[in-house]
Amino acid sequence: MATPEEINADMLAFWNGKGGHTWVARQEHTDITLSPVTDALLAFAAPRAGERVVDIGCGCGASTLEFARAVGPSGRVAGLDISGPMLAEAERRTSAAGIGNVAWRQADPAIAALDDYDLLTSAFGVTFFGDREAAFTNMRRSAAPDARMALVSWRTLAENPWMEVPMTAVAQHLPPRPKPVSNAPGMFAFADPEHVTEVLTAAGWTPPRFEKLDIDLDIAAGRGLEEAVVQSTEIGAVNSWLRNQPTEVVSAAVASLREALEPYADGMSVHLPSAMWLISSVSA
Ligand SMILES: C[S@@+](CC[C@H](N)C(=O)[O-])C[C@H]1O[C@@H](n2cnc3c(N)ncnc32)[C@H](O)[C@@H]1O
Repeated sequence: MATPEEINADMLAFWNGKGGHTWVARQEHTDITLSPVTDALLAFAAPRAGERVVDIGCGCGASTLEFARAVGPSGRVAGLDISGPMLAEAERRTSAAGIGNVAWRQADPAIAALDDYDLLTSAFGVTFFGDREAAFTNMRRSAAPDARMALVSWRTLAENPWMEVPMTAVAQHLPPRPKPVSNAPGMFAFADPEHVTEVLTAAGWTPPRFEKLDIDLDIAAGRGLEEAVVQSTEIGAVNSWLRNQPTEVVSAAVASLREALEPYADGMSVHLPSAMWLISSVSA
């Protein structure tokens, strides 16, 4: 079992390296696919004019910029991430949109001192910490009295066909994956509400409220079946599974993936069900 330090080092290498660059290249597509999730997170978090918001694992800033618009010129938003390439893209988008109330910071929120805030938010950015209880304890230190938290994160793989269908399709061509360790750092680390409750309450937050968010995601982003195949092979678990495989194995796996997604194609869209938690809490 890797230590928290080893996990953090691996995550930094991935997100600050090849993984981060791939996310930048695929960001426009990803943002279109996830735009209903951003809308749902905004409605759930209900940011108010003038508030100070921190967005953890902000990546290229899709939801960060929406929070900045929502709090208006009298508010401010800090986007924190460990990925230099993704933050550079976020900065570029901020200038292009003429938004002045966002500050981007390359830092690990698990250990860095944050500026005081009224609302902590994250879209899929808090599940990669090596020691998540220590990370949430550190983040709570800068919370204003009664500061709110509003997160969105994935439920289990089995509840997320947008990811499970591609994985099952390629599995027949590939060596078996190691059995997943429950609650291990990664995209599904916050799937179990009991575990999340333990982490947050131990870190000084009130027992969280969980709301199910079930959305059919257009994994083609309106760009057709081929684009859905490319996105599914370039981002996420299928990508890491295909890495270092012989060309003929990759070709066969991609062909099976295309075949598996075809029944979901509807014009230029490819809709598959997804399942998330919206999680809220207050600093205790
Ligand atoms: C799945 S991406 C989500 C990005 C963005 N929130 C979005 O919805 O497009 C996960 C993000 O978490 C960041 N991340 C991973 N580990 C982190 C850590 N320890 N501290 C801060 N950010 C981290 C990654 O660099 C990446 O930007």
